Amino acid sequence: MYPVWEVPGLTAGGVLALIATFHILPSHLSVSAMWLSLYLENKAYREERPELLAFVRKYTGMLLVFAYVFGSITGVGIWFSASAAAPRALSGLIHNYVWGWATEWCFFLIEVAGIFTYYYTFDKVDRRTHLKLGWIFALGSWTTMIVIVGILTFMLTPGRWLVTGGFFDGFFNQTYWPQLALRTTGMFAIAASYAVAVASRSDDAKTRAEVVRIAAAWGLAGLALATASFFWYRAALPEAARATFEALLTPGLVKGMWVPIALMAAWFALLRVRPLAAGFPASLLAICVLFVSIFSFERARELIRKPYLMPGFMYSNQIIGHDLPAKGVGSETAAMNEKGILRFAPFVPNGLREVTDANRLEAGRMVALIECSSCHTLSPKGLRPLPQRVAALGFTDVDSLSAFLDSLGSYPYMPPFIGTEPEKQALAAYLISISK
Ligand code: HEC
Repeated sequence: MYPVWEVPGLTAGGVLALIATFHILPSHLSVSAMWLSLYLENKAYREERPELLAFVRKYTGMLLVFAYVFGSITGVGIWFSASAAAPRALSGLIHNYVWGWATEWCFFLIEVAGIFTYYYTFDKVDRRTHLKLGWIFALGSWTTMIVIVGILTFMLTPGRWLVTGGFFDGFFNQTYWPQLALRTTGMFAIAASYAVAVASRSDDAKTRAEVVRIAAAWGLAGLALATASFFWYRAALPEAARATFEALLTPGLVKGMWVPIALMAAWFALLRVRPLAAGFPASLLAICVLFVSIFSFERARELIRKPYLMPGFMYSNQIIGHDLPAKGVGSETAAMNEKGILRFAPFVPNGLREVTDANRLEAGRMVALIECSSCHTLSPKGLRPLPQRVAALGFTDVDSLSAFLDSLGSYPYMPPFIGTEPEKQALAAYLISISK
């Protein structure tokens, strides 16, 4: 474990979530775009249409620049921020899925080599070979998604892994197939929006209209199938995740998820009828609208994991809350409740290991940093600010707040308070002091 990474106003997990959401656009684009390219390239050969082929070339050229620059930067950003925000969880994931990641990286290598080879061999190899290169890229990059979805869904529904500790018991869990379907279909809406933007820069009105019409159909189909997959996914969620979802889903978040989807459907439908209506600024705006939706769905996915990083095993604050006999790991809560969280956490300044009258507020702040700051900021503004939340409940004295802290575990989305009685009192005293 590292020292706590406190990000004022946002939390460390918030930084990670932002980077991860930005990663979705280029990563899903790189998985989906080649399918559209292959379709158009086939069509160009069949109908002997060099201008269509010229579009495919431009489209994949832009893909190479956009997806591989932003995708790589944000991809590495996820690893950096995750290792600083939740090193223990990342370590747990690596211990379980190192071969999963190794597999994914092999296919990622094929993907990166594939896009360069495909792009730079237009007109240099024969048509069949070029199409084959496209297929290698398309299947290679889809395989990265097939692997990553197993690890991502494991972090929400680890399934039988909790009992057996087996790689595939966690990988093929109850939300694996619906989430793979959701990403595999939703990605075509991203590829389509991007194709519309690239086409809108073309001077050749006929090709532009044709490409936009085709892209709009792919976009509409992607949105419809992704919506169906979403309901499949929601039905597959375990009871606890659904309770958290219900408790935390605000009307704003629901709107953020569905209004952009409706707007995008209307946009694609309009483009089916009037393909030349898509100017470059409008098509960029459409990508931003789609982004709002992706952001909201990802936020919802993050919310339903609470109070865990690895459900049934490790809480969001990285405390191991349950036994995992299959891996020989035991819950830490009993020992921490008896000896104190400040003794166990590795980066506590020496003077704070024991709560005293003199260090009470400082020790309380340390407890809040360790146990609460993964989800709450300690600053007055920002993500679920603790001063505001405590004040809103009307607590003004240490004893009643301390009694309330006993009930944290009964919220579906919060871990219980863990630590000794003096530590709880110190936390309560600190919270009262910042909420005045
Ligand atoms: C796993 C994430 C998580 C952790 C860790 C966490 N909380 Fe929360 N907490 C939430 C969420 C989510 C809410 C509800 C949404 C909101 O208030 O915006 C919440 C709400 C609250 C509220 C308001 C409750 C109400 O009924 O209005 C208080 C008070 C609170 N938390 C205190 C704490 C304290 C103190 C800690 C540390 C001991 C803590 N939380 C740790 C996620 C967390």
